[in-house]
Amino acid sequence: MPYLSPEEEQAIIEPKPMADFVETPYIKKLACRALNYLKAGIPIHFRGPTGTGKTTLALHVASKIGRPTVLLHGDDEYKTSDLVGGEHGYRYRYLKDNFIATVLKVEQDMYKRWMDNRLTIACRYGFTLVYDEFTRSKPEANNILLSILQEKIMDLPSERNGEERHHLRVHPKFCAIFTSNPEEYAGTHKAQDALRDRMVTIDVDYFDRKTEIGITQAKSGLIEKDATKIVDIVRGLRRNNPCEFMPTIRSCITLAKTVGISGGKVSAEDKVFRELAQDILVSQTTRSPWSPHRKEIKKLVEDLIEKYC
Ligand SMILES: Nc1ncnc2c1ncn2[C@@H]1O[C@H](COP(=O)(O)OP(=O)(O)OP(=O)(O)O)[C@@H](O)[C@H]1O
Ligand SMILES: [Mg+2]
Repeated sequence: MPYLSPEEEQAIIEPKPMADFVETPYIKKLACRALNYLKAGIPIHFRGPTGTGKTTLALHVASKIGRPTVLLHGDDEYKTSDLVGGEHGYRYRYLKDNFIATVLKVEQDMYKRWMDNRLTIACRYGFTLVYDEFTRSKPEANNILLSILQEKIMDLPSERNGEERHHLRVHPKFCAIFTSNPEEYAGTHKAQDALRDRMVTIDVDYFDRKTEIGITQAKSGLIEKDATKIVDIVRGLRRNNPCEFMPTIRSCITLAKTVGISGGKVSAEDKVFRELAQDILVSQTTRSPWSPHRKEIKKLVEDLIEKYC
């Protein structure tokens, strides 16, 4: 690990496997595909609807790489300078030699402060970049990635230490994992063709049944039989879909957790469970209280409870 300034350290996470991470054959296969591309030096991009486990999978894959990881969340307000760094007044500056790790000089001079931002840190030290929901940033802000991913060169702006514009050679161990929601989602921009062309996109869909049951169980502590009932109701709702939004694994987790806490039983006879299921599933699948589909979804939830519980 190179010597890092306190600011740089703050930008870094050591992704460790989550204690309740569920690793079914479905997840293993996805992770393995992604790791193979990354080993070949190709950035990967998990694209899929909300709640399909993209962020969790990206961090899981990053933990398999075993390098420190820098996490970025796409944001419409981002400018390129937010990704690469900017000037933030003056401060005492720690000086270090990037190339000879043992040479460490702490300089207490007042120096123009440059806050290296996360992308720069990842490129300089060869860390793993997880750029979550990158299409929420404007395409212009993401342009900097084109030369990073292709020519392995990062173009740094001129203000840095008063020097001329210069280039940073991207560390050979740098690798990048992106996630995004499909372009039709509100608040996302269209990814530039050139950027998409520099990565392999793996489309992720809703989990398979086994994985959904495993995650619901792991996150709620319910027994497998009860987690299965909840998952089957949610999957039934997805299949016969009059919904404006598809119910996701989050609906399963929320219902399973609240049923456990409220002392209800996952059973058609349990009034509390029926009410919770209506509350959670109807609200998570409709856009507004006046949705024309509300009644239909309520009825469907009732029918699914009868069928599976
Ligand atoms: N393999 C897994 N093991 C345990 N929990 C998981 C796993 N994958 C996903 N989850 C859980 O499922 C939920 C949704 O996952 P996640 O947030 O990664 O989805 P997402 O696709 O990134 O969603 P969004 O598009 O809304 O950001 C989270 O609560 C997460 O903790
Ligand atoms: Mg996410």
